[in-house]
Amino acid sequence: MSAPVDPTTTQAWAGLTAHKDTLAPDLRGWFTADPDRAARFTFTLGDLHVDLSKNLITDATVQLLVALAEQVQVPQRFAAMLAGEQINVTEGRSVLHTALRRPRGAQPALVVDGQDVDTDVRAVLDKVYAFAEQVRSGAWTGVTGQPIATVVNIGIGGSDLGPVMVYEALHPYVAGGLTCRFISNIDPSDLADTVEDLDPATTLFIVASKTFSTLETLTNARLAREWLLERLVGDGRLANTAEARSEAVARHFVAVSTALDKVADFGIDPANAFGFWDWVGGRYSVSSAIGTSLAVALGPEAFEDFLAGFHTVDAHVATTPLDRNVPVLMGLLNVWYTNFLGAHTHAVLPYDQHLHRFPAYLQQLTMESNGKSVRWDGTPVTCDTGEVFWGEPGTNGQHAFYQLIHQGTRLVPADFIAMANPANPLTDSGTDVHGLFLSNFFAQTRALAFGKTADEVRAEGTAEAIVPARVFTGNRPTTSILAPALTPGVVGQLIALYEHITFVQGIVWGIDSFDQWGVELGKQLANQIAPAVVGDPEALAAQDPSTRLLIETYQAMRR
Ligand code: F6P
Repeated sequence: MSAPVDPTTTQAWAGLTAHKDTLAPDLRGWFTADPDRAARFTFTLGDLHVDLSKNLITDATVQLLVALAEQVQVPQRFAAMLAGEQINVTEGRSVLHTALRRPRGAQPALVVDGQDVDTDVRAVLDKVYAFAEQVRSGAWTGVTGQPIATVVNIGIGGSDLGPVMVYEALHPYVAGGLTCRFISNIDPSDLADTVEDLDPATTLFIVASKTFSTLETLTNARLAREWLLERLVGDGRLANTAEARSEAVARHFVAVSTALDKVADFGIDPANAFGFWDWVGGRYSVSSAIGTSLAVALGPEAFEDFLAGFHTVDAHVATTPLDRNVPVLMGLLNVWYTNFLGAHTHAVLPYDQHLHRFPAYLQQLTMESNGKSVRWDGTPVTCDTGEVFWGEPGTNGQHAFYQLIHQGTRLVPADFIAMANPANPLTDSGTDVHGLFLSNFFAQTRALAFGKTADEVRAEGTAEAIVPARVFTGNRPTTSILAPALTPGVVGQLIALYEHITFVQGIVWGIDSFDQWGVELGKQLANQIAPAVVGDPEALAAQDPSTRLLIETYQAMRR
């Protein structure tokens, strides 16, 4: 693996630094002087209409950013990823989530290290689809012979956030009579509240864990198993024998993992386990068998449409020149804001209630990928990396934190995402509510870009003393993404778009966007501390004074 190019030593970086020093952002002036600006900075990506024109960029900015992408070898890195090179160097792995959504029969076949990846991927998908059909048709029954009504996915991080986000996004596509729920947190309330009103006889658990060793997931899976067996035995629907119990586990638990041996140890029939591969990162895994709950809820056909959406973007990113390549341009914009204009965060603001978990999903995707201080060769990064991603659906956010975005001292680039056609076309006294809703989307991006001058405020008759408080500076950058409707394909496109934006930023910064060593220390310490918490005096004595006092206080408070 070659050493990363230090972006700060490139000609383009020097050019961008000089450019920033002379750039006076003026979206009002730029739009007035250039009637073509909106069209020139608007791009089509599959079903997505992506308007970059309200960003703090000129043609020169884009040219320099594209030069930066060339100089840090963005195209070569994408080619390496797509070909299965081990670009996840700290884990010695290929990064092939794009292989998960290649169309059936794609040519030439993707062969990595002599292994036909396409065939492997399709074999698992076929198994997932057959299972999904069985559950959906009622052919798959629980141990009492009843069909399944609720599928509960137990997983955390990438084994939860993708499935739950997509399930919420595609709510209108969920088959009648079937519901999915999701348990992730090791806080026992998550499991207790989720299963509280469920009938174990009609509940199927999918234990989703890439490693099948994650503390939270395995603990919750054991608790779920206990709940199921206790309830069924307790009310006499299951005989209290080892055989009946293991039959119940086999009928009510399936698994998704790369560690199929560990799945069998849990008591899940390996025939009911869906595999994937170590070349799929957890946060890049929703298009793998980790999406099994979705295949059940949505059906194989919709799941295929979902995968096709990803592939549209994968094909675009692989073949489109950099200056028209949407994920590349959006990744470069993020670099522009982070490294040249001093932004620390990035808001994602979906104007679609069904996308309410999209910001949370993106937090893992972007921050677990790019929150790094060393590069892929172990040397320190040479500039700031990963922004804090955050957001809430509009219009709720408008009544909460938009104040800071409009008038605060911080630069917060924001992506606004909306669908032209609502899932629920309701009218209020004859007025289309979706139109009202999206008027807010259009109004917010306009207000952020163009603001309101002191003279405009005065012209409204505002008292002079209050004028400053009512001025909006404008020049607050936004990207607008519009799609026809929140279909499975559009959701796939949105996810793939952000996956590739994330990779582009990682390439510029020279980091391995596919490892996550930063989550390990806390996990290790939790294991070390657990004995102290449950009363081991030696383990308690080994803690630092603050941690020791906290544990002692907890113990004193704990009833
Ligand atoms: O703790 C981080 C992490 O490793 C994520 O990257 C991953 O998505 C999550 O834990 C869950 O891991 P697993 O699927 O192996 O249970």
